[in-house]
Amino acid sequence: MAETRTVCVTGASGYIGSWLVKGLLERRYHVRATVRDPGNGKKVKHLLELPNASTHLSLWKADLTEESSYDDAVQGCEGVFHVATPMEIIYQGQDGKDETETTVNGILSIMRSCSKAKTVKRFVYTSTIGTITMQRQPPLHEYTEDLWSDVDFCYEQKMFGWMYIAAKTTAEKAAWEYATENGIDMVTIHPSLVFGPFLTPYTSFSIDAAISLYTTSSVSLKIMNGVPVVHVDDVCNAHIYLFEHPEAKGRYICSSHTVNIFETAHSLSLKYPDRNIQTEFEGLDKSPKIVPCSSKKLMDLGFEFAHKNKDMGELCAETIESCREKGLLR
Ligand SMILES: NC(=O)c1ccc[n+]([C@@H]2O[C@H](COP(=O)([O-])OP(=O)(O)OC[C@H]3O[C@@H](n4cnc5c(N)ncnc54)[C@H](OP(=O)(O)O)[C@@H]3O)[C@@H](O)[C@H]2O)c1
Repeated sequence: MAETRTVCVTGASGYIGSWLVKGLLERRYHVRATVRDPGNGKKVKHLLELPNASTHLSLWKADLTEESSYDDAVQGCEGVFHVATPMEIIYQGQDGKDETETTVNGILSIMRSCSKAKTVKRFVYTSTIGTITMQRQPPLHEYTEDLWSDVDFCYEQKMFGWMYIAAKTTAEKAAWEYATENGIDMVTIHPSLVFGPFLTPYTSFSIDAAISLYTTSSVSLKIMNGVPVVHVDDVCNAHIYLFEHPEAKGRYICSSHTVNIFETAHSLSLKYPDRNIQTEFEGLDKSPKIVPCSSKKLMDLGFEFAHKNKDMGELCAETIESCREKGLLR
């Protein structure tokens, strides 16, 4: 059936967006990929070179900051995968300009495009575990989909990534309200930090984190210990699974691993013996108390994680090797 179906992917040029486009093209969906600048070869070449792209892929210009910008791309689509987000706000410091508006107005603008189109059967939104896990009082056992991050807490604490978390949480809440009021079948997926190979000719936030033990980037390294992680392939397959599954409903955490930086560093030091990978981290707890993110709801729907048995070192190494193949790392 997939070969007759048309879907739209926003933020198609990015890490997750391009991997998702690849998966959809492999299943012979017709994919309308939105990007802000279709004429920018660096942003779109990796999409145009994908298998089946010549027959099944089209590029559409759209921007989250422009109302109605997505109307044309969405019109006639059966599904919309909304992946785009201004990721740079993750690095926003304590005094940075509040960029929540772009994220919130962007998703609402796309949902209005879906309402106008009248062809969209399901809207799949790439949220994040960040809309769940930023709690004043973390749960004792696990994070589940019924929890919401505390936006006031983000503004008070201004922890690393606070504006991104606040923006994504506010946007998701607004989206649920719009979906309920306007009868949109929305499913949200909440990946943890995404590791694994990539198609883009440049790195992005989570890729930088995945390679941080290799590159010794302190900005990325500091978030690594205890962070939940998932393979990009599993994330993108879960997007498609949730789009296709008739009983998918509500929010779905998608996470399979948790980083122990000591174990990950040890594994990488064996794989790259010439690299002198740092394996001791002063001040870091060797066995931090980690509250896991539960993907039970997703697995209960029948989804299987293909990469869950790989160790963290392997996930990081896949990202490192992807960088090396592209000449981004030696
Ligand atoms: N990577 C992770 O670890 C992770 C984890 C959980 C959730 N997520 C979510 O996954 C999604 C994709 O993340 P990613 O890691 O793939 O990020 P990415 O590589 O930075 O991609 C983000 C995409 O958003 C697009 N974008 C940014 N600002 C835009 C705007 N104003 N209008 C239209 N498009 C805009 C960019 O497209 P152009 O510049 O080409 O227009 C870019 O391709 C995000 O929603 C993020 O919250 C990511």
